[in-house]
Parts: sequence; C-alpha cells; structure tokens
Amino acid sequence: DHPGLIDRFGRIATDLRVSLTDRCNLRCTYCMPAEGLDWTPKAELLTDEELLRLLRIGVERLGIREVRFTGGEPLLRRGLETVIAGTAALRTRGPAGEAGAPVEISLTTNAIGLDRRASALAAAGLRRINVSLDTLDEETFRGMTHRDRLPDVLAGLQAARAAGLDPVKINAVLMPGQNDHQAADLLEWAIREGYQLRFIEQMPLDAQHAWTRDGMITAADILRRLERRFHLTPADPSQRGSAPAELWHAQSRADSCLRGTVGVIASVTRNFCAACDRTRLTADGQLRNCLFGTQESDLRALLRDPGRSDEDIAAAWRANAWAKKAGHGQDTRPAGADDGFIRPSRPMSAIGG
Ligand code: GTP
Ligand code: 5AD
Ligand code: SF4
Repeated sequence: DHPGLIDRFGRIATDLRVSLTDRCNLRCTYCMPAEGLDWTPKAELLTDEELLRLLRIGVERLGIREVRFTGGEPLLRRGLETVIAGTAALRTRGPAGEAGAPVEISLTTNAIGLDRRASALAAAGLRRINVSLDTLDEETFRGMTHRDRLPDVLAGLQAARAAGLDPVKINAVLMPGQNDHQAADLLEWAIREGYQLRFIEQMPLDAQHAWTRDGMITAADILRRLERRFHLTPADPSQRGSAPAELWHAQSRADSCLRGTVGVIASVTRNFCAACDRTRLTADGQLRNCLFGTQESDLRALLRDPGRSDEDIAAAWRANAWAKKAGHGQDTRPAGADDGFIRPSRPMSAIGG
C-alpha cells in the first residue's frame, strides 16, 4: 500500500523521463535509418495541457522528484519552454499534504538550436542538460548522423554553459570503425572545456535492428582505449546511487595538469537495473516501467475520457509501476544469440532515451 511507484522488488520510481516528440533532426546510425521513421501523427501526441496534468499527478500524488525531458529531439517540441515552466511550478507533497519542494528538471538533447534557446530554457526552470555528441570531427559527425551540424552542436554547448546550466554532461556512443578511435580525444577536450563526458554502450534499441552483441563496443573496450592516454582509477562507488554512469578519475599520462572524471554507462554488460528508479512516458501518452519490455499503459486514453479522475490515472500509474520486471524488461534472462535482450515494441527514439 505504498502511495508512490513501488514495484515487486521494492524499487521506487522517483525519476520520470518524458519523451516530448519522436522526431529528430539527426539520423544517428545507432538510432534510426537515414530516411527517418513514420512519425507519430499530431493527434496522438499529448498536448501541453495533457502532459502537465500527468506531471502534476506524478509529482503531487506519486512521489516523482526528478523530471527529464527527452525525445526524439526535445528541442523540436514547440512548447518546450512552456512545459518546463509548468513543471517548475509544481511542488511535491509533504506527509500532511502540504506543498514541498520543486522537482529537478533536466533535458537530454542533441543541442541543435540550443544556442538561441538556452537562456530562455534556464529562465523557465531548466537546471542541467545532457548533450549527445559522439565526435569532434566534422567528417565523422556527418558519417554518424547523416547531417552536417557539428558547429550547431558546439554552439549549443557553449550557450548552455553561458546560460548557467550546470552540470553540462556529454553522452557519446562509440561505434566500431566510425568514432571508436577518438575516445581519448573526446575526453581530453571535455576535461579542458569543463563538460562531464560519459560513454554509453550501444543498446539494442535502434529502429533498424542492426545491433549485435559482437558489433558493439563494451565498457571494457572503452576503458582499454582511454587507458592508452589516461591513468584511470574508479571513483567511490558509494556515491553512485541509482545513476546509470559508473565514474572514473582520469589523469592524462602526458600532461599532469589534465585530470577530471569520465563516466561509463554499461547498460549491456553491467546493467544497473537493481537500482533503477526510473519510469517513462512516451510522447503519445504511454507509460513504460522500463526501456526494454513490451508492456505499455495507455494514459492518453484515460486523460481523454472525461469520466476518469486524477486518482484513476494515479491508480493506473501505480499498477504499471508494480508490474516492472527484474531487469531489461524480463524476470529470467533467456540464453540466446542476442544476450537475452528482448526488443521493446518500438525504438528508443519513440520511447525516450
Ligand atoms: P543523469 O546521470 O541524471 O544526468 O541522467 P542519465 O544519464 O540517466 O540520462 P541521459 O538521458 O543522459 O541518458 C544517458 C544514457 O543512459 C542513455 O543512453 C539512456 O538510454 C541511458 N539510460 C538512462 N536511464 C536508463 C535506464 O533506466 N535503463 C537503461 N538501460 N538505460 C538508461
Ligand atoms: N544505445 C545507446 N545509447 C543510445 N542513444 C541513442 N540510441 C542509443 C542506443 N541504441 C543515446 C543518445 C543520447 C542518449 C539519450 O541515448 O546518444 O545521448
Ligand atoms: Fe531500469 Fe529497465 Fe533500464 Fe534496467 S533496463 S535500468 S530496469 S529501465
């Protein structure tokens, strides 16, 4: 009888990841095909009002304390500033129902167009930002994204820092033969610029279903590549909490002044499901208790049914949380060619990262 989002394993979801659109202006090879996908029709997307009603239910009734907006590419959502301002006005509820703290608001984006919007987003209540950037080389960028937009991303990053978003984290996926030899270059640059770099293992969530276990760069591979130029020591694991990233202290072998941290998000080879505190809402109003797995709960239908109250929606949300599986969307990991991963019913661009 927990008021919040607890599952059968005792995990409590306090972090909500909200996808604002399934569209994107890049075509990263590990995510979607060059020709794009069939985007969700507008009528199926939640409106700003519908989304804010769900956010209020999550924060006031269900214990959500952190909200991350993602996509697709969330900057393509026209009302992003409005949605962030509406979220910033919400307050958690104390034990006697009194108004408590605001939620922590973050954004995961490719940063294209951020140069013009970073200060307005910060003013609306955005606190911090994670930017996807896999390479600093224009040709590699073009090869990996099918677009020529590296300068836009770099301008967006600078604007984020200037707007006071803190920290600015960078997510990089290494792809064999494309950018994997650039890992240490990226880290040197990120430390110099003051960005927190994390490398992410490629997950089987691409729309093309091209992922293979043998074709991905593992956390061990990533660390091996960095070790050539950096001395790495593990950061205090007790500080990790539910964070997907394992942190390392990195000290350049060539330049003793060059030192910082680097994260590795090893969703495939060292999954962090046991500490998962996340729940997800897709742009079309479907609730998911896991990135993987096939079940979704249709909150949009409840929202659009005038006979349903906020408490009905909260009850459906609790039921969705309760059904969460042990890890990677399943209770037992079947031995199989693809390491026991089941593919979700839709790609990451439609689920939200
Ligand atoms: P912070 O560390 O709080 O900034 O957030 P984050 O790293 O969770 O967020 P971000 O959106 O930058 O995600 C980075 C990578 O972690 C993406 O590839 C996500 O898909 C992955 N990730 C985040 N949460 C989960 C999760 O619950 N399960 C899995 N498998 N991957 C996740
Ligand atoms: N595997 C791992 N990470 C991915 N991302 C997108 N697709 C994948 C995938 N298949 C990353 C993006 C972004 C973050 C939300 O997830 O690069 O930084
Ligand atoms: Fe949580 Fe599912 Fe991600 Fe594991 S794979 S950390 S259970 S969302």
